[in-house]
Amino acid sequence: MYKLARSSSRDSGRSAGPFSVDLGLPLLYPYGMNENKSETAVRLWRMVQTQAGLSRRKAQELIGSGEVELNGRIVDDPFLSVEKQTIATLCLRGHPLSLCDPEHRVYRYHKPPGVLCSHDDPHCGNTAGRILRSEGFIGYTWAGRLDQDAEGLVLLTNDGGLVEILTHPRYRVKKVYHVFVPRFPPIREMKRIFSEMQRGIEEGNERLRIVAGEMSGRPLRAVLTLAEGKKHEVKRLFSHFNLKVIRLRRVAIGPVKLSGLAPEEIVRLDPATVASLDRLTGKKP
Ligand code: URA
Repeated sequence: MYKLARSSSRDSGRSAGPFSVDLGLPLLYPYGMNENKSETAVRLWRMVQTQAGLSRRKAQELIGSGEVELNGRIVDDPFLSVEKQTIATLCLRGHPLSLCDPEHRVYRYHKPPGVLCSHDDPHCGNTAGRILRSEGFIGYTWAGRLDQDAEGLVLLTNDGGLVEILTHPRYRVKKVYHVFVPRFPPIREMKRIFSEMQRGIEEGNERLRIVAGEMSGRPLRAVLTLAEGKKHEVKRLFSHFNLKVIRLRRVAIGPVKLSGLAPEEIVRLDPATVASLDRLTGKKP
């Protein structure tokens, strides 16, 4: 079981076309014709995803199968661009969705091994998406995946801009990992390995690189700082040196730390950490 910690009308007919709706307002623009769209325009699938708390795939599928009505008309193109201020009603399977923008929030989640960072997975019921839905996190997603067998800090947020900043390699937000292998080479050899990792390692078509590495703690672990967020990057870096990672724990993302959070716990960020995250993402001075 996972714990949430306390803290502070059917068919009005197919749309006649995407260019006008009942309000008589120019509401929708077909995909590819959005060069002049305003900042309040949003793809229909994104609106449905956010307000109904669905995965991107599910939102697109439901729109495509005619389950979404906009201002009383079925609209089946998930990629239509919609001017927010012209939406009077948005319904999913006949149920009205909120049109208000949500307040942005961030929570720390201590992901245990076994949970898959996916909204839906036909082969695994133990997904982060299921946990979010069952706990009322509508419109939330995680900023940065962890492998299913990895554990540690995952940030949950309904702020898409924050997800972009925390996960895109261009922003170089530092993440710290504790890495365990069955038997580490001697310290001098590990220092050489960390130096090579700092210079960068060609793996597949990518260059993997760490910011810093050191040995620490009991049981002994490698403490690695990375700033890119490529798939399986820690395991790939270690496998380059024939070292098999048997336990991987993320302990920090930028200024946010895992410490004090029990496995499976979800806790809202305290105001001081929100402020340091805002400074990192440039939201506030
Ligand atoms: N690197 C990995 O190999 N796995 C993760 O889950 C995160 C970083």
